[in-house]
Amino acid sequence: MKIISIVGARPQFVKAAAISRELRMRYTEILVHTGQHYDYGMSGIFFDGLGIPKADVNLGVGSGPQGRQTAEMLRGIEEVVTSHRPDWVLVYGDTNSTLAGALAAAKLHVPIVHVEAGLRSFNRHMPEEINRVVADHLSDLLLCPSHTAVNNLAAEGITRNVHLVGDVMLDVLNNAKARAAEACAKFLAQLDVRRRQYLLATVHRSENTDASDRLASILDAFNALPETILFPVHPRTRKAIATAGLVVNPNVKMIDPVGYLEMVALTDSARMVLTDSGGLQKEAFWLGVPCVTLREQTEWVETVDAGWNTLVGSDTDKIVDAVKVFSPAGARPNLYGEGCVAAKCVSLLGETHGSH
Ligand code: UD1
Repeated sequence: MKIISIVGARPQFVKAAAISRELRMRYTEILVHTGQHYDYGMSGIFFDGLGIPKADVNLGVGSGPQGRQTAEMLRGIEEVVTSHRPDWVLVYGDTNSTLAGALAAAKLHVPIVHVEAGLRSFNRHMPEEINRVVADHLSDLLLCPSHTAVNNLAAEGITRNVHLVGDVMLDVLNNAKARAAEACAKFLAQLDVRRRQYLLATVHRSENTDASDRLASILDAFNALPETILFPVHPRTRKAIATAGLVVNPNVKMIDPVGYLEMVALTDSARMVLTDSGGLQKEAFWLGVPCVTLREQTEWVETVDAGWNTLVGSDTDKIVDAVKVFSPAGARPNLYGEGCVAAKCVSLLGETHGSH
């Protein structure tokens, strides 16, 4: 079989690290990078650090307004799919690259597999929610990380070729843990922080960066906290901070985005994580680090139900209070499976081929 996989943004590179390896052991993969993320720190560092095969095609789309960015990807992906006529197009998650890949394949009648299907925030103001809903409704094979995701699909009438496989990000974390632990002391020393004596923060969701009052409210909380906050800053967020003229206190260490191993090491050693990222909420859970989520909803509701994640939105006082009092200690059940997810996904591709 021939499979075209579409990636474009950071969380997709992480997932491709596990899936591409497994795909290439059994089938022919053509890896298409849309170019949505293009800075070395947002893209190349993941290919190098995780041993992801070099993209066979890079569409070089870059940044732009939602519609134009998606349209340029659609045009590029359509050409690649038309010339290769694959057996499957594989898309990951919820980015504009996911949407473009799914739309292009559906119009060309090529079956689509969606890895990380069925997630919902039920907030249609998020571009990611629109991307997920459309990708799921166009997909022929839907690979879900959680029971909640399977139930979300059923509620929308999608029950055919839906499989609970677990979360492929756990495969990648399990593979990287030992190497991250080895390099951890070096990373902490380079950044002049000590284990459990800092908070790790990330902010990049458009709901938090495009509204300067929300961003200001989050940074007010960071400034009000007595602890060191290590803050790898997404380029979108750096621009938004500069445009709004916001300033941070010396306890907030703004650094460039970091690679995967470094992020795992920094998460594992943090006292607490503050984030609006989806992936980081789960990584904090798997590593047993409390997570304060800077959003009103999460797709990863199980981490909240298990008591290890709390939703506080962008309210300054709520963030400060949560950092002071949130102290989970309960069990951490296998909410998203036990790993080996990439192998399951690739097996299901073979089993479903021709029967969809
Ligand atoms: C995208 C995804 C989001 C994912 C996130 C991971 C969509 C709608 N959102 O958000 O689901 O969680 O990636 O990071 O697809 N930029 C750079 N250099 C880069 C990449 C981006 O400077 O390498 C800047 C650009 O100015 C751009 C902004 O970041 O305007 C936003 O980039 P974009 O790709 O639109 O979305 P993300 O916020 O990264």
